[in-house]
This record gives sequence, structure tokens and C-alpha cells, in this order.
Amino acid sequence: MSKKLRSYDWFGKSDKMGFVHRSWLRNQGYPDDYFKDKPVIGICNTWSELTPCNGHLRDFAEIVKRGVREAGGFPLEFPVTSLGETIMRPTTMLFRNLASMDTEESIRANPIDGVVLLTGCDKTTPSTVMGACSVDLPTIVVPGGPMLNGRFRGECIGSGSFNWMIKEKRSVEQYTDEDIHEAEVGAARSQGHCMTMGTASTMACMVEALGLTLPGAAAIPAVDARKKVMAHLSGRRIVEMVREDLKLSKILTRKAFENAIVVNAGVGGSTNFIIHLLAIAGRIGVDLKLEDFDTNGSKIPLLVNLKPSGKYLMEDFYYAGGLPVVINELKKYLHNDAITVNGKTIGENNINPPCYNHDVIAALDQPLQPEAGIVVLKGNLCENGAVIKPSAASKELMKHRGRAVVFETMDDYHARIDDPKLDIDERCVIVLKNVGPVGYPGMPEVGNVDLPEKLLQKGVRDMIRISDGRMSGTAGGTVVLHVSPESAIGGTLALVKDGDMIEPDIDKRKLHLDVSDEELKKRKSSWTPPPPHTERGYVKFFLDHIQQADLGCDFDILRGGSGSVVNGDLH
Ligand code: FES
Repeated sequence: MSKKLRSYDWFGKSDKMGFVHRSWLRNQGYPDDYFKDKPVIGICNTWSELTPCNGHLRDFAEIVKRGVREAGGFPLEFPVTSLGETIMRPTTMLFRNLASMDTEESIRANPIDGVVLLTGCDKTTPSTVMGACSVDLPTIVVPGGPMLNGRFRGECIGSGSFNWMIKEKRSVEQYTDEDIHEAEVGAARSQGHCMTMGTASTMACMVEALGLTLPGAAAIPAVDARKKVMAHLSGRRIVEMVREDLKLSKILTRKAFENAIVVNAGVGGSTNFIIHLLAIAGRIGVDLKLEDFDTNGSKIPLLVNLKPSGKYLMEDFYYAGGLPVVINELKKYLHNDAITVNGKTIGENNINPPCYNHDVIAALDQPLQPEAGIVVLKGNLCENGAVIKPSAASKELMKHRGRAVVFETMDDYHARIDDPKLDIDERCVIVLKNVGPVGYPGMPEVGNVDLPEKLLQKGVRDMIRISDGRMSGTAGGTVVLHVSPESAIGGTLALVKDGDMIEPDIDKRKLHLDVSDEELKKRKSSWTPPPPHTERGYVKFFLDHIQQADLGCDFDILRGGSGSVVNGDLH
């Protein structure tokens, strides 16, 4: 057996430990040649019945194995912590780093030469990529694919988008329980993840733009046979990647990260992209900063007409040509020489693919919006930054001065938002505190809180909302997110009071609280932090190590990697 393979250390030796490592694995019926010169491919599976978006990945692992075996590899599937966005409480973001640790340690501790990451639902992509980066073996991602378009009364509806409209539908259009039920059963009608340009689709586009998937992988629907072909070919390719020693760090260069930022702007991707890409960069040792998202992305035209801000869904995006069309359109903004998992550059992989529907994917000279990327705001309300997605915001609110209506917690918001006596109008700024990484804890997707019932009735559809939380990629509105430092650790957000005037100016990248420095100092001296959520267990560990949003919310002790070498054996 070649000593070049990492798995040689487990299976190649004739000593006692070689016997132990091979002998027990043989109970699954592997013949001798499986332990000789076959690269061992770990298939890292986020399948779980509690993660509906990844429910098909158990079958997909078998398809990947076909490809691995054909190419002369030895596939071994292993489970890692799976994070089901719609099911887990209080928020999957509380567990992203835990899942990444599981992935990292599972890869490093085992006789694995190369890795296939089977991902889908929002956090299952960044968590596994982060973990894999900290080991840095040859790695390929197989995104599980979106669901087919949701259907409701002859129309397409986006899973993850309709739910944000339920309050409005009931209040304004008088929807009954039966109406809502009908939408519920039509919204998620096949295997796969949310089919809007929400976080899962954003993550799939992100890994393709980073060069971590075979070309064209992101948009293929989960139930399309071509997704299975993609999984099969990825199985073949990872074996070659091991032989070429094409490790993650050779692909995930600064150029790859800048490409991902450009592509995310072009597709109108989720704001969650920022937090996850920052965390991935931190693991692989690329010095990416929050400001890089604005510098590289904010002037990029919006090309993809998908919900939540557009009209179509991922199935339409695939039929129109998918991400290769977008990458080709944006080539003048990209580092076209960035290498990808198939050994070719991103430019070589995406030469002039046909676009079959320009209403879904606009041409660069006729974009849906001239500038679409994420804008990073700075000011006394967010010293380390805050973000807004202008493509999802209302133009008339991009420069504003409004009176703060403050909610100290989500419970406070729920208790008072629909109180008819609440002093609020459409020019006010809704401020939501204590939904950041430490404050909630876990930074949930609540930044796009519903508007007050009485304003919905008046026909108001958007207001400025500011918080230290996140927003679902399936949501929209003029929503300022990721305020850092967050309120629970004493950021200025903690000091805002009802009636303060707040001035966002998106063009100027400013978020200003119109309160004097002296007054803020006074308020700070009497501010006390909220009591810790717990003194035990994983959540205590989370609170002790979580970093702020501008650093990607990774744990301080997880930044960087430990490589793939393990010193010491069983005994
Ligand atoms: Fe899984 Fe949206 S809930 S991708």
C-alpha cells in the first residue's frame, strides 16, 4: 500500500494496530484489495429525518459511493450533527460551530484521505465546510439541491417566503386557517431545501463560486436525475483529487473568497452568507474582513430574479441555465484563474453557457438592479459594523431619520407590537435588542420582525428595523442586521431608548444614533449586562467562546486549523 495515502497509517501496517484497524472493519465484508492502495473517501453525511431538507441524502450517499468505487476508491460514510432549520430550537445558529467541531474531529480521527460533504439545509453547508477546512484534506461538496417550486392556487410560492406573509395575509386579505393549510401542503412538495434564494440556495451558490463543487451543481433540483449524476461524478472526482493532492487550501484562496462575494451579489444571496463566509475564511487562514463584502460586492449588478426579492424560484433558475450563466456574465468582476475541484479554473468551467430565460437571469448590460451586494454600515450605533441588503430594501427608506421604538427582547416585542396603544407610525425605526450571538443566545433570524397590525391595516408594508440578530435569506425589507458589538455585551445598541432619533444613510454607509457622546457615556455607566443564560453545558461553552458577527460568529478557539496529522494511536 502506498505510504503517500494518509490511510496507510491505519491500514498499511503489518503490526498489531494494522491488524486491529483492518480486522474490525472487515466485519462489513470488505475484500483484501480494499485495504491496498485505495484512497479512503469519507462521505460526511448530514442526513437526518429531523432535517427535512436533507432527508434524501441517505440515498445520495449510495450514489456517491458508486462513483468512488468506479474510480478505485474505498468509500466509508459517516454521520455528523445535522441542523434542521425549521425544527431546532432556539436556533440552528447556536449549533453551527458544534456541528463544525463534529465534522472536523470526525475527519481527522479517522483513516480518511478525501472527503465528500453532503449538505443541504442552511447551516449544514457552512458547518461541514468549516470543519473540513480545519483539517484541510481534498474535499468536494455535493449540495443536496432545492425542492421543486411550491404551488398554491395556480401560483408558485416559495418555501420559507410565504410564512413571512402569513400575518399580513390573515390581517389584510382575511385568509382563514383553511387557506393557510392549503398553502402549507403546497409549499414543500418534494425532497430538497428551500427553493427561494434563501440561505440554503445561497450556500449552494457560495460553494460553487468558491470552486468546491463540480460546475453547475448548485441549482439542480434535489429530485432531478441530473442531481444524482452530479453526486455520482463527484464520487469519481474526489478519488482523483486525492491522487492530485488537491487540498482545500489550494482552492480556498483569497481570490476564491472574492469570487464568492461577487457571485453572491449577482444572485442576490442571503445576508447569512457574510457570517458563514467569514467563518470559513477564518478556518482556512484567509484574512477576510467585513468591509471586503462591501468593497468587492456592493457595486455588482443583480442578475437573478428569484424570491424573496424577485419573482422566480430555484427550479426556474436551473432551467434558465443556473449559476454557470451568472458566473459567465460576471466574469469581468471575477478572478477567472481561481482553481476549482475539477482541476480547471472557474473561467474554464463556465465559458459562455447558454441562458434559456433572460427574465430569470438578466444579462449584465440589462441587470435587475445596477448595484445589489451587501452594504456594510458603520457609525456610533455599530462601531464594528452592521449590514443591510439594499436589493431587499425600500428605496425611500435608504436615507431616513426616524424615532426609535425599542423592544428589549423578543418577548417584549411579542407582548407589545400589536398593542393598539403602542406609539408607532411608519416613519419610526423598530429597534430590537438582545438577539445577538450572546444575547439570545445564538443570533436567531428575527431581524425582519413583522410590522404592527395597525400599520399593516393602513397599508404599510415596510419599515426600518435594526437589531443585532440575523434575517432569514427568504425574507426581505429595510432591515439592518448584525449590529456589532451586540447589545448583550454593552454595544451602543443596548443604550438606545424610545424616542431617540436614528439616521441610517445607506449610500454613505452610515448608521447614526443622534444622541450626544456625553449622554451615551452616562447611559453606559448605569447599564448592566443581562444575566447569563446558563452556567452549564454546551451553551455555557458557546457563551464563553462565541465571537461577534463581524468576525463570523465562530468560536475564538476554532479559528485556523489543526491539520490532518494525529499523534498517538489507540494504545
Ligand atoms: Fe432547510 Fe430552508 S429550512 S433550507
